[in-house]
Amino acid sequence: MPPVTDRATYQGIELDAETALALLDWQLEMGVDVPLMDVALDRFDLPARAAPPPAAAAPETPPVLTLEGGAPDDLADRLAQAEALAAGADSLEALAAAQEGFDGIELKKGARNFCFSDGNPKARVLILGEAPGDEEDRQGRPFVGRSGQLLDRMFGAIGLARDAVDAERALYIANVLTWRPPGNRDPSADEIAVSLPFLRRHIQLAAPEVIVLMGNISCQAAIGRRGILRLRGQWVQAFDRPALPMTHPAYLLRNPPAKREAWGDLLSLAARLESLSV
Ligand code: URA
Repeated sequence: MPPVTDRATYQGIELDAETALALLDWQLEMGVDVPLMDVALDRFDLPARAAPPPAAAAPETPPVLTLEGGAPDDLADRLAQAEALAAGADSLEALAAAQEGFDGIELKKGARNFCFSDGNPKARVLILGEAPGDEEDRQGRPFVGRSGQLLDRMFGAIGLARDAVDAERALYIANVLTWRPPGNRDPSADEIAVSLPFLRRHIQLAAPEVIVLMGNISCQAAIGRRGILRLRGQWVQAFDRPALPMTHPAYLLRNPPAKREAWGDLLSLAARLESLSV
């Protein structure tokens, strides 16, 4: 994206370009897809458009194409390697070892610990988060920071816990990414792509009955869609099984009123588990 230097005005407040872009990004994340203005625009009353300026004369010599980033992209090779490693793993332990040894993801170099999963792999419910944060990176286990503490309380309210031995009451927890992105930035499409073969195999081997897709990145990886505030609460099919998108606990920590809908989603999960048991 070219650097943006302009300032923008939002509801009478002047914003610098970076803040304005962050606001737009946030709205997209939340599922906003139709911009509405405070006052409706009467398109029949708009002045006629000025004719476009004549096209600039073509340059005499065509511009030389250069490959940005230098080396040819090796994504296809890294993907093939990830696929082969994942397919060759016939247990969760073997898969964890294969994924940890895979060097086709740059994040590995900056992370402190590999973060594969937590909880009971026999659980009926798999919670799929996004990526390790600082505390997860420190401990090498998903959802052990503030979001994880809220997650434990949320699922505890419907009788599910990561430390439960009984599969009926247990939770299994994994992330789309197993290495922490620096500064908790969103994972790139490339990072998600090379993690997906391992994630698919992970889910095949754990074989949960249902999956909870926590937040936008999980929905993007699992069903190719974002806009969690629209998706949440609606059952979808992901990795060949029923999946429920929910707002991420980190979002709930920032927006406590949204816990009301999250509670509704938890009840929907409890009802689904009940109906699958009969
Ligand atoms: N957020 C996630 O999505 N996963 C974690 O493990 C921690 C925070």
